[in-house]
Amino acid sequence: SLIYLSFPDIDAALHALAESWDNPPQSWVGSDPCGSNWVGITCSNSHIIIITLPGLGLGGTLSSEIQNLPELVALDLSYNKDLNGPIPPSIGNLVKLKYLVLVGCSFSGNIPPELGNLVRLSFLSLNSNNLRGSIPGSLGNLSKLTWLDITDNELSGPIPVSSENNLGLDMLTNCKHFHFGKNNLSGAIPPKLFHSDMHLLHVLFDSNSLSGSIPPTIGLVQSLTAIRLDRNHLNGFVPSNLNNVTSLIELHLSNNQLTGPLPNLTGMNALTYLDLSNNSFDESEVLPWFSTLSSLTTIMLEYSKVGGQIPTSLFEFTQIQTVRLRNNRFNGTLDLGTNYSNQLYLVDLQNNEIQKLNYVVYPNKLILDGNPYCNQGGSSNSKYCTVPPQSNSTTYVTPILNCGNIVCPSDQDLSPRCNCSYPYVGTIYFRFITFSNTDNTKYYQVLEEGLSKLFEDNQIPVDSVSVHNPHINIDNYLQIDFWFFPAGKLRFDAYDVAKISNLFSNVTFEAPSDFGPYYFIARPYTEAELGSKSQKVPVIVGATVGAVVLSLTVIILIIFALRQKRKATKAVELSQPFGSWDLSKSSGSAPDLKGPKWLSFEELKKCTDNFAEQNEIGAGGYGKVYQGTLANGQQVAVKRAQQGSMQGGVEFRSEIETLSRVHHRNLVSLVGFCFDQGEQMLVYEYVPNGSLKESLSGKSGIRLDWKRRLWVALGAARALTYLHELANPRIVHRDIKSNNILLDHHLNAKVSDFGLSKPIGDDNKGYITTQVKGTMGYLDPEYYMTQQLTEKSDVYSFGVLLLEMVTARRPIERGRHIVREVRAAIDKSKELCGLHELVDPIIGLGIAPAGFGRFIDLAIKCVEESSAGRPLMSEVVKEIENIMLLAGMNPHGGSTSTSESFVTRTRGHPYSSNSSFDYSGGPFSPKIEPK
Ligand SMILES: *[C@@H]1O[C@H](CO)[C@@H](O)[C@H](O)[C@H]1NC(C)=O
Repeated sequence: SLIYLSFPDIDAALHALAESWDNPPQSWVGSDPCGSNWVGITCSNSHIIIITLPGLGLGGTLSSEIQNLPELVALDLSYNKDLNGPIPPSIGNLVKLKYLVLVGCSFSGNIPPELGNLVRLSFLSLNSNNLRGSIPGSLGNLSKLTWLDITDNELSGPIPVSSENNLGLDMLTNCKHFHFGKNNLSGAIPPKLFHSDMHLLHVLFDSNSLSGSIPPTIGLVQSLTAIRLDRNHLNGFVPSNLNNVTSLIELHLSNNQLTGPLPNLTGMNALTYLDLSNNSFDESEVLPWFSTLSSLTTIMLEYSKVGGQIPTSLFEFTQIQTVRLRNNRFNGTLDLGTNYSNQLYLVDLQNNEIQKLNYVVYPNKLILDGNPYCNQGGSSNSKYCTVPPQSNSTTYVTPILNCGNIVCPSDQDLSPRCNCSYPYVGTIYFRFITFSNTDNTKYYQVLEEGLSKLFEDNQIPVDSVSVHNPHINIDNYLQIDFWFFPAGKLRFDAYDVAKISNLFSNVTFEAPSDFGPYYFIARPYTEAELGSKSQKVPVIVGATVGAVVLSLTVIILIIFALRQKRKATKAVELSQPFGSWDLSKSSGSAPDLKGPKWLSFEELKKCTDNFAEQNEIGAGGYGKVYQGTLANGQQVAVKRAQQGSMQGGVEFRSEIETLSRVHHRNLVSLVGFCFDQGEQMLVYEYVPNGSLKESLSGKSGIRLDWKRRLWVALGAARALTYLHELANPRIVHRDIKSNNILLDHHLNAKVSDFGLSKPIGDDNKGYITTQVKGTMGYLDPEYYMTQQLTEKSDVYSFGVLLLEMVTARRPIERGRHIVREVRAAIDKSKELCGLHELVDPIIGLGIAPAGFGRFIDLAIKCVEESSAGRPLMSEVVKEIENIMLLAGMNPHGGSTSTSESFVTRTRGHPYSSNSSFDYSGGPFSPKIEPK
C-alpha cells in the first residue's frame, strides 16, 4: 500500500513505523495523518501525541525511528501477536510518554534500561510477551509510575533495589501495582523493596522462582490489599507482623516451603480469600483467628498439619463459600451448626481425623473421605464419603434469546440479541477474585452488564456481549472468554477494534467489585473480518518452508471444509424433527427457539441407562422423571411423557418456546427436548435437592429453618415477578405449588413445570379467558368462577404456598383448606399469631421467629378472595426482603452475598474513582494534552 506523507517533522517517523510493519493500517493513506482518518493517530497542534493500534494484526518489528515522535504521550500496540523483535531502546527518548502499553505481542530481548528515562511515565504494561533478562533497576527512576505490569514473560534474576550506585524498584513510592507473576524471577525478595512510604495495593509475585524468606518489611506497607507470593520456593518463617496489614483482602502464600508456626492472622478482618496450602508449617492446633475472620469467602489450608476441632463459627461467616482443609489432623466431631452460610459451596476435609458428623443433612459439597468417620460401619455409605469429580470450570455461556429460525452463515456467530456477525473475541485473566463459587452465574451476569455499559459509555457500536466458559486456570487466575458483537453491521472496522482493545489494554474497563485486576488478550480480528480488500501474499522463504506452508494450507482447507459440512448437517438435523409436526399454525416448522438442544431418543435412552428404575426421581400423571448425564457431562432431569398424557404437537412446542424464552436464576432452565420415535421429552437442568414439598414433609431430609424458608420464598417470588412483569410476553405460571419449587445445591428456589403456563397478550385486557386448570388447594377461587386468568391467580397460589411453608401442611388436609384454617385461628395479639397448633415446630417452638407476623400478613393478603385486593409479585418480593432484614438476613446477597463491595473496602482500589489515572473521558482520550 502507498503512504503519502507531507509533514516533514513526523513523516519520516511514521514512514519508518509503517515500513517496519508487514501490514500497516489500511487507512494510513493521504497526506495528513492529523487531518484525515488515520486509524490510531491523535494529534495536537500538528504533533502526534497518541498512537493506539491494539488488536489490528500488525506484524513485523517496532522501528527505533519512533523516537522521532517527541510529543508522544501514549503508545499502545497491544494484542499484535506478530509484532516481534526487541523493544527499541530509543523509546527512552520519548520523554513525554505517560502510557506505554505493549501487552500480548511477541516482543523479545531485554526490557531496555532506557525506559528509566521516561520520567513522566505513569502506566507501563509489558505483560504477555517473550521478554528475557532481568528487570532493569533504572525503572526505579520512574517516580510517577502507578502501574508496573511485566506479568507472563521469561524475566529472570533478582528484583532490583537501590544501592549507593544503583536505582531500584523500592524507589517507586507512587506505584500501586507490582504485577510480576508468571516469570522466572529468582533470589530472595529484598527487604529493602518494601517500606512505609510506599503506596502499593497489589504485590503479585506468583509463579516465579523466588526463594529465601518473606521480608518482614512487607508488614510496613499498610496500603496493601492483595499479596500473591504463591507458587515460588519461599522458605523460612512468615513474618509475625503480617497482621499489621489490616486492609489485606487477598493473601496467597500456597505452594512454597514456608516453615515455622502457622502465621498469626488475628485482626486481619478484611481478609476475604486466604490460601496457605502446601507449605511446611509446624504442627499446630486450631488457631484463634479461625473463628474471627468473618469476611472470609475462602479458606484454603491443605497439607498444613493443623489439628483440633474445626470451630462451627467458621461455617457461619455470612460470606463463606469454600473451606478446603484437606490432609490435616482435624479431629473430633464436625459440627456445621444449623446456621451455616447459605453460600457455602465446598467443604473439603479429606484425610483428616474426624470421628463424627453432628449434622445429618448438609446440602452442599462436603467431603469426608479418608476420615475415621467414613470407616465406621454405618457411615461408610454416607454420601460425604465419596469424592465428587473435580471441576474447575462452569459451563456458563451468556444465554441467547429466543431467536426464531436464524441460521448464521458458517463463519459468523449468533449474538445474544439474534444478529449474525463477526464477533471480536478475547480472553480476560483475573489475577485474583474475592469469591470461589465459580458456579454462581450472578458474577458473570454482572460482568456482562458492566461490559455493555462500558461500550455504551464509550460509544462503541456493540450489539451485545457474550461471556464464555469461565474457569480457574492453572495459575489460579479466573479465565473467561468474551465475545463482543458489532451493532448494526457485520464486522467491526479498524477504528472499533483499536478502541475496544484499548479499553482493556490500558484497563479503562473497571471490573465489577468482586473481581481483582486483570489482563486481557485479544484474539486477532482477522483481515477477512476487518473487511480488507487486499490480501497479503505470504513470502515463502525456500522450498522446504514453502512446502510446509502449502501442506498446512491444504490441511486447514480440509478441516474448514469438514467443519462446514458438519455445520450444514447439523442445521438439517435440527430442522428435521419438526418437519413431521402436525401444526395447525401455518408458520414455520421448527419451534421458535434458540438455546435448548434437540436431543435424539437414543441419546436420552443412553443418558438415563435405558430409563432405568434407579434413575427415576419423580412420577406423576404426566409420566416419569429420570436423572441422567449427557455426553458433555451435564447432569439433567429428563421428563418423559407417558402414552396417553402427551400433549398435542402445538402444546408441546408452546411449552418449549415458553421455556426457552425465560431465563432467570430462580427458574429451572430447559437444556433440551426430544420429539422422536413417538416420544415427548423435556430435558431440564438437574436440581439436586428435590422439591420444596419433599423438604417440608421431611421426605428429602433437608431441614429448612426459618431463614432458609425466607430465602426459598424470596427466590420463588422473584421468579414469578420475572414471569409476570419482565418476561416478554408476560407469563402466568398457573401451577404454583410446593411440588413445583425445586431446591438447588444452595437451597435456592427454582420454579419448574411450565406445562400449564400461559402467555398474556398485550391487548390491554389484562386477563385471558381459558379453561380452568391448576391444582386443587392452590386454585384461585375467582379464576375458578370467572375462567378469567390473570397474574393474580399465581399470587393466590403463592399465598397458599407461604401458608404451606409456615405449617408444613398440605393445602387440603382431611378435607380442610389451609387458608380457612389459618384465617379461623389467627389472633395477632398472641404469640405466633395464635397459630401454635398449625405452625411447623421446626420454625417456631412456641416463639415466633423474627418477621413471622409480617409473613403471615403477607400470606393472608395474597389469598384475598378478590384478585384486586392481592399484591403484585414485585410487592411481595419487597415485603419478603423487608422480613429478611428483620430476620437479620441480606436479601440482596444472594447465595453469594457480598454486603460490602470490594471497592468500598479497599479504599484505594485501582479502578475506583480516586484512582491515579489522570485522564478521563475514555481511553487515551484526546483531552490529554502534553504539558
Ligand atoms: C496474635 O496476634 C494478636 C494481635 O496482634 C495477639 O494479641 C496475639 O497474642 C497473637 N497470638 C499469638 C499466639 O502470638
